[in-house]
Amino acid sequence: MNNFEFRNPTKIIFGKGSIEKLKNEIPQDAKVLLLYGGGSIKKNGIYEQVTSALADVDMIEFGGIPANPEYAVLLKALKVIKEEEITYLLAVGGGSVIDGTKFLSAAALYEGDTPWDILAKSIRTEKGMPFGTVLTLPATGSEMNSGSVITRSETKEKLAMGGPGLFPIFSILDPQVIASVPTRQLANGLADSFTHVLEQYLTYSVGALLQDRFAESILQTIVEVAPKVLKDPSDYDAASNFMWSCTMALNGLIQQGVPSDWAVHAMGHELTALFGIDHARTLAVIAPSHYKYNFEAKKEKLAQYGERVWNITDGSIDDKAYAAIEKTVDFFHQLGIDTKLSDYTKDFEGTAEKIAQRFTDRGWLGLGEYKTLSPDKVEKIVKMAY
Ligand code: NZQ
Ligand code: ZN
Repeated sequence: MNNFEFRNPTKIIFGKGSIEKLKNEIPQDAKVLLLYGGGSIKKNGIYEQVTSALADVDMIEFGGIPANPEYAVLLKALKVIKEEEITYLLAVGGGSVIDGTKFLSAAALYEGDTPWDILAKSIRTEKGMPFGTVLTLPATGSEMNSGSVITRSETKEKLAMGGPGLFPIFSILDPQVIASVPTRQLANGLADSFTHVLEQYLTYSVGALLQDRFAESILQTIVEVAPKVLKDPSDYDAASNFMWSCTMALNGLIQQGVPSDWAVHAMGHELTALFGIDHARTLAVIAPSHYKYNFEAKKEKLAQYGERVWNITDGSIDDKAYAAIEKTVDFFHQLGIDTKLSDYTKDFEGTAEKIAQRFTDRGWLGLGEYKTLSPDKVEKIVKMAY
């Protein structure tokens, strides 16, 4: 096992009716900006629950943060934060609203002239404006991690940022919110969280037995609850297991002491930036090709995943590893998610070259657990995904 240091300061408040507990978490003297997305919270009762819990708090609101949080919109929210002398942010939404809030947390205290530099120059945020979250869509794990991904449509870019100052102070997870989530977004959440685990697990063994079993247990739980969640999102048992699995998939725990990959996400973000494809679906497009292309380096772990998660017992390491990739593709299909770029756009020619060029320009010359996945390899993987 590799050395590690681990600290996750986010307080989780989980369970039925927990949105009411908001009032215990926001400091009395705070001036709060409530941030939300396109308006789903106004239709499903979450907005009511939040505003009645915070009736006594000095709070204004900013709505309209789109899926794949857009830089230009966030700059408008930043103006409100400065003009209204906001001291505390409250994100009520899915990964997009929470990530947008993290950007604002960083940008509000940033001393440079151009907030985009936080993303373009990978400036780590040591201290941000404090914020809490009410999660409305399980998927990204953003509610308990310090990462964020921001889109700039003007330049068709989607870049990540983060730092120890960007953990939410608290996150409220009431699984009942899932009841109103559309099937497409439920499927996205299942596929995204599943792939988060794969990114931290399908690498090479360092003898970290517990981390492997943490990862496998999250994968098994997602596979078990997926049909139940899709059939009836108001099934509380399924919803609560789904929600906690998504959080555990990317709150840092399973990544400690083990190598991680994250190349699927790096390539996937480009497909969202170029074509607007939902984040989770870009992962389902890239992952199968990535695992096939890197088969030799990953096959031991792929075979272990096949045995322990998919009960594949027959054949050699190679047979099991290959069957595990096939099972993963089947799982995405069962969620109703297509796994080829051509399923999403007919305009895909040249995409692989463009992504490879972008990675070269950014100096991303070696991705993956071995830091050897060069832009020419990225180009081949993306082409395999057409
Ligand atoms: O905007 P509203 O109207 O609220 O509707 C949203 C949105 O259209 C809707 N929704 C959310 N909760 C709902 C609901 N509809 C009905 N009932 C509810 N309870 O769902 C739609 C999608 O929301 P979004 O927040 O975009 O989805 P998700 O949580 O999948 O977030 C995706 C974003 O997170 C980033 C992705 O790149 C993408 O930009 N990620 C963030 C990560 C992180 N911070 O750690 C890691 C991930 O790998 C990912 O990159
Ligand atoms: Zn993801």
